Amino acid sequence: MQRLLTNAGPIAHLSGDGPITGVIEDESAYVSESGLGLLIEDHVITKIAESQELLSEYSHLETLDLEGKAIVPGLVDSHTHLLWAGDRSREVAWKQKGISYLEIAKMGGGIAATVGPTRTASDADLTHLGIERMREALRNGTTHLEAKSGYGLDTETELRMLSIAEGLGAIQRLPSLDLTWLGAHAAPMGSDIDTYFEEIMSEQLPAVIEQGIARSADVFCEPGWFSVEQSEEILQHSRKKGLDLRIHIDEFVDGGGGELAADLKVSTADHAHYTNDDSRMAMSDAGVNTGFLPGTPYSMGEDYPPFQKCLENNWAWSVATDFNPNCRTLSLPFIGSLLVQRNDISPITALVACSRNSAETTPHPSGLIHGQIKEGAVANLNIVDGPLWESWCLQPGHSPFAATMLEGELIFH
Ligand code: NIG
Ligand code: FE
Repeated sequence: MQRLLTNAGPIAHLSGDGPITGVIEDESAYVSESGLGLLIEDHVITKIAESQELLSEYSHLETLDLEGKAIVPGLVDSHTHLLWAGDRSREVAWKQKGISYLEIAKMGGGIAATVGPTRTASDADLTHLGIERMREALRNGTTHLEAKSGYGLDTETELRMLSIAEGLGAIQRLPSLDLTWLGAHAAPMGSDIDTYFEEIMSEQLPAVIEQGIARSADVFCEPGWFSVEQSEEILQHSRKKGLDLRIHIDEFVDGGGGELAADLKVSTADHAHYTNDDSRMAMSDAGVNTGFLPGTPYSMGEDYPPFQKCLENNWAWSVATDFNPNCRTLSLPFIGSLLVQRNDISPITALVACSRNSAETTPHPSGLIHGQIKEGAVANLNIVDGPLWESWCLQPGHSPFAATMLEGELIFH
């Protein structure tokens, strides 16, 4: 199927190779003037040219006149905990009393408190939750999500979560998924990290490999959860078995996860809030992306991580929602607003952080480029509800998009 989009306003295409680092001095390198059109063939952008040129060459095609609306890439959410059941809203009262995330976990709240409801939820319930969440993400312009397991914390349920997520990824007209096994997320109730670590190594990791659904492995490497040594062992074995690596580090303190991330050359080291500068430098030299998750400190009333430092030092970084029971947003435009309206980051840099740069760590299942608008890329893009592309991140609380093109198909919001 072929179709045309014509009379676009400015297109924030962000096209190029690899991540964009440093302050963007010349925005015009990444944003085209108004008046262009796009030829879409099946799920691919095959031509970008002046609207008149396309209209005369392809006059027979179905055409959508954008009447000057701006376009940005399909957003890429490179860190989500998509599947879980239950509700931890009451933990807000503990947080407001100043009780820390670690103390809440020790009191029986936190990750382990989500495991019970997740284990008892049926496949149908979890599938329903997953579909609703993916629709919400799509309404906010997300065309691809990385999705982690991690609320089963036993072999049977971790495998079940991955299998349900695989089913979700195959549903048409929903964002594509990239699946990560995060069995090493916390110790299940009644166990402890050291005992559970042994179970992961002897039983869960081999079972996940045999199942063959997860593309990557992830570990919550943080004092109070998995140690640097345990994280290293899990990730090394996972890599030997063919998995790509991601890691949660330094969310609450500098626990040495940054050095490990650099040594292992993981694809992305996420949270990385309290990582020291030497480790950040080593991560950058090793080609490791820093995946900031500002929705989490927002949810907990804490400060934001040092985005500016990454810009000053030309370190590659991205942002994602970290959607989980403790941070319940699937809106990357809201995360963009946190960057722009709370942290003085420019709209173009914020957009790069949740499209082109985040796509570097989570490939599209087609194998084509995504997170950018260029010929040969997946036809994933957002039509902004107005003439200025900057408004993508300036409307927290509702979607800034009139429509999303998802793998060549137009979905109106
Ligand atoms: O990335 N911190 C580790 N994991 C999640 C939170 C999980 C939870 O609180 O349920 C995160 O923020
Ligand atoms: Fe997370």
